[in-house]
Amino acid sequence: MTIKEIADENLQPKSFEWTDESQLTIDKILRQYPAGRQASAVIPLLNIAQRQNCNWVPIKAIELIADTLGMPRIRVLEVATFYTMFNLIPVGKWFLQPCTTTPCWLRGSDEVMSCIKDKLGLFEHYASTSDGQFTLLEVECLGVCANAPVLQINDNVYEDLNYDLTGKLIQSLKIGKMPKCGSMSGRQGSMPKNGPTSLVSLKNSDGVPTWCTKKTTS
Ligand code: FES
Repeated sequence: MTIKEIADENLQPKSFEWTDESQLTIDKILRQYPAGRQASAVIPLLNIAQRQNCNWVPIKAIELIADTLGMPRIRVLEVATFYTMFNLIPVGKWFLQPCTTTPCWLRGSDEVMSCIKDKLGLFEHYASTSDGQFTLLEVECLGVCANAPVLQINDNVYEDLNYDLTGKLIQSLKIGKMPKCGSMSGRQGSMPKNGPTSLVSLKNSDGVPTWCTKKTTS
């Protein structure tokens, strides 16, 4: 269970305004809703505010969203505190979100957590390294259970992790490199560890299943 924290007064900016780019996107989003239903855009606007503000949503942004959508500020705060994807305190450049729900736990999320603790000294919710580069938040299912255990870093999800692979990932981030997301063990998609076991009769002239040769997005 994730505990949602809100930044102290001294960390809150005195004001928050939409950038021109954000405002253009917001205008486009609002046109998708019928008149009087703009409050339904609260999640997209929280997302825009967070991306505009280094990956966290200050209280002034909550107030601006409420004013933009004509809804009570407490309703916006309710949504922002419910979803773990909205940060209400500043986070590091690399925001680590390991999943520890049952499938990931059974497949070794404890190793991922141990590695983060050993390499970065992070083990509590929203703890950050002293240089402000890394922040940890343990989260529930990220929807990639077939490739458990997984770790989300910013917008990327890394799969099939263990202690050593997590260590390599952290090392890359330390030197400013974000590795390609997806399976870290090298398997394609969610294919079984020892190769495909279904639709294997659909082979090309090299004997490789045709579906296996298609490019996948990770
Ligand atoms: S349980 Fe970890 S991704 Fe679903």
